[in-house]
Amino acid sequence: MFLGIDIGTSAVKALLIDADSHTIAEADVPLTLSNPHPYWSEQNPDDWWAATQTAMEQLRHHNPAALSAVRGIGLSGQMHGAVLLGDDDRPLRPAILWNDGRATAECDDIESLLPGLPDQAGVVAMPGMTAPKIMWLRKHEPDIFNTIRTVLLPKDYIRLCLTGEKITEMSDAAGTLWLDQRSRSWNLAAIAATGLEPGQLPALAEGSDATGIVRPELATRWGMGASVIVAGGGGDAATGGIGVGAVTNGDGFISLGTSSQFFVATDRYRPRPKELLHSFAHAVPGRWFQMAVLLNGASCLAWAAKMMGATDIGDILRRTEHQHHHPSQVIFLPYLSGERTPHNDPHARGVFFGMGGDTRPETMIQAVLEGVGFALADAQACLKAADTICPLPGVIGGGARSRYWIQIIADIMGSPLARYEGATKGPAFGAARLARLAVDREAIEDVCRTPQIEEIVTPDPDRHEAYLPRLQKFRRLYTALRDEFQNQDSVTPHR
Ligand code: XUL
Repeated sequence: MFLGIDIGTSAVKALLIDADSHTIAEADVPLTLSNPHPYWSEQNPDDWWAATQTAMEQLRHHNPAALSAVRGIGLSGQMHGAVLLGDDDRPLRPAILWNDGRATAECDDIESLLPGLPDQAGVVAMPGMTAPKIMWLRKHEPDIFNTIRTVLLPKDYIRLCLTGEKITEMSDAAGTLWLDQRSRSWNLAAIAATGLEPGQLPALAEGSDATGIVRPELATRWGMGASVIVAGGGGDAATGGIGVGAVTNGDGFISLGTSSQFFVATDRYRPRPKELLHSFAHAVPGRWFQMAVLLNGASCLAWAAKMMGATDIGDILRRTEHQHHHPSQVIFLPYLSGERTPHNDPHARGVFFGMGGDTRPETMIQAVLEGVGFALADAQACLKAADTICPLPGVIGGGARSRYWIQIIADIMGSPLARYEGATKGPAFGAARLARLAVDREAIEDVCRTPQIEEIVTPDPDRHEAYLPRLQKFRRLYTALRDEFQNQDSVTPHR
């Protein structure tokens, strides 16, 4: 039995799998997000730990036998977050998250100090990454900066709580700007440019390495054995890839979670910073991936449904599909939290364009589904420009529950998409697989298999044709508004 724990942004998910990779039990504990100032996005690391303990108690309550048979735990987590610990290993302030946009000036600072950084770090400096956040703290919260003993990534804080070890692994270190992706080692010049010492960062492991043992008092509390191994695990993009077997060159997937990614595994390091792709070390040795990152995925649908007072997303999707007009008269720019690929624009915001007096809520929801689809078509174009081919991406994450949405995305992109059985498993499932690799040392391909394809969703040629001019308009709208987004700084967004 293996356990995966994913420290997400909207929830902590724990998932138990058996030796045949069947899911035996799951526990989900919701998390909240704090936006104390415009562009800020924070969470308290102790909330992650409290939610992890609640998830473990739930598993213990409902599945005590399965939990007691666990031999390894794999960790997955939201990437890029800065967890700042003092001398007592306690958080000095809330963690600054992946979708935080405050550190824009610091991105310019680090790139002018280190012009070669994008080639080493696999991506241009963007405010969501860890290093610019530390430079922001040095400038704006020097008292905190001066007392930092250790900087950890979100899931690695949970490792510290579980095992007492300060270790990260390649795929999450990849999102800091401090990793030299090619050699899979810390980039000392990048660390120094941030004002840190290498000793303030955790040790590096591979995602499939054993990194420690669950503390005895926790093992006793949860009814687990005395030597449960905690594997390196991975950033949630990489563990999503492990979960759907995207470990071989050209295998890929689209994730429709809070954020959205178009991820393709590569057999060597292929940096393409100009396309604003993230070219990162994978969670298994000797593999890398390229990824287009959209900061806004299924979160747009959740937001729009809430705005319209809809409590049941399934119901509003059914109503939208029922009155589907092709394509929607309204265009939605999905940049609620800014955007990384292809804009690197933390100031961008959501826009509805083209409403009339007759516009219905369902039309707006359709526009939201299409808007994320248009952003994914932009992601696809960036990967194509980098000569990266992914013949049949699967779709995973919460949004993959909607066959209707997958059809819209396939129609917009003009390429087929696979629906997997158990599509929504995602990162926690991949983390459990990494635990298995760490414990049993099997071959990567034997463990990281592609799930059974339930259906291949093919694009409709007529609908694709009809979407092309809308995609062009979507792109023009962003270009027309880019400067206006920049000038929003004096306005406090509603919360
Ligand atoms: C990836 C990224 C997001 C977060 C969300 O670069 O920023 O996918 O990991 O969980």
